[in-house]
Amino acid sequence: MENIADSSPLTPHPSYTNFHATRRVESRNPAQAGPKGLFVTGTDTGVGKTLISCALLHAFTAAGNSTVGMKPVAAGCVPGQGGLHCEDVESLQRASSVRAPRELVNPYAFAPPVAPHVAAAEAGVTIDLKHIRHAYLALAELADKVVVEGVGGFRVPLDEFSDTADLAQLLDLPIVLVVGMRLGCLSHAMLTVEAIAARGLTLAGWVANRIEPDMERFDANLEALRQRIVAPLLGVVAFAPQPDAVRVARGLLLPLLSQP
Ligand SMILES: Nc1ncnc2c1ncn2[C@@H]1O[C@H](COP(=O)(O)OP(=O)(O)O)[C@@H](O)[C@H]1O
Ligand SMILES: [Mg+2]
Repeated sequence: MENIADSSPLTPHPSYTNFHATRRVESRNPAQAGPKGLFVTGTDTGVGKTLISCALLHAFTAAGNSTVGMKPVAAGCVPGQGGLHCEDVESLQRASSVRAPRELVNPYAFAPPVAPHVAAAEAGVTIDLKHIRHAYLALAELADKVVVEGVGGFRVPLDEFSDTADLAQLLDLPIVLVVGMRLGCLSHAMLTVEAIAARGLTLAGWVANRIEPDMERFDANLEALRQRIVAPLLGVVAFAPQPDAVRVARGLLLPLLSQP
């Protein structure tokens, strides 16, 4: 984990103005301050959503909360004992303090490592967003904090009409954006920030994750994002050959999530 200083945003783009307009689901217990649930999205697939979701779970647990992770839709699962095994789901379960039923944690699992709407169509399954919402609400009864990991980037189709942004909107959760720091991430990050704002959702914070050990001009890229993203920078995660979610958790600035 690297040290980060307070962000110093420049004049925000008009599309950011509704960031804080939406209602947050707040806990009434001050010990569990901040949002009840978070939706973790990323600039792409493979940018560290699972790592940061697990780190958030550990950080919330360390702060005295009971926690549970959720992966509403997982692809690339491997057939095994008792059904399909998904690495993301298992990582989230290991990082959760509450053991919740698998069907709530991961309502939809598919074997092929392909786009979910394709995997679902091939399996003859319709991904029902309302079913996912019911599962989320059930998890919210079981733990103080629910961390929901999205699928791929922010607008991954789930069926013919809806995508993961619609899911985030239906769940009405503040969003944490994981930026996988590599060449090309600036536009991906800003497009995602814009798409979140366009839906009236709250960007609760973002994380800069060094997924490449030797990204050129890392500091300049980080600064470009800090100047443009109004939401708090929750952490800058260093590259690690074998990243450890517990260690990453120690560097996340959770209190920033509670800010209005
Ligand atoms: N900071 C990091 N340093 C090194 N490897 C990382 C880092 N963050 C993520 N990774 C690796 O990148 C891969 C994708 O991370 P993951 O959290 O699964 O991303 P996503 O959930 O967005 O697909 C994993 O192999 C993970 O261990
Ligand atoms: Mg993942």
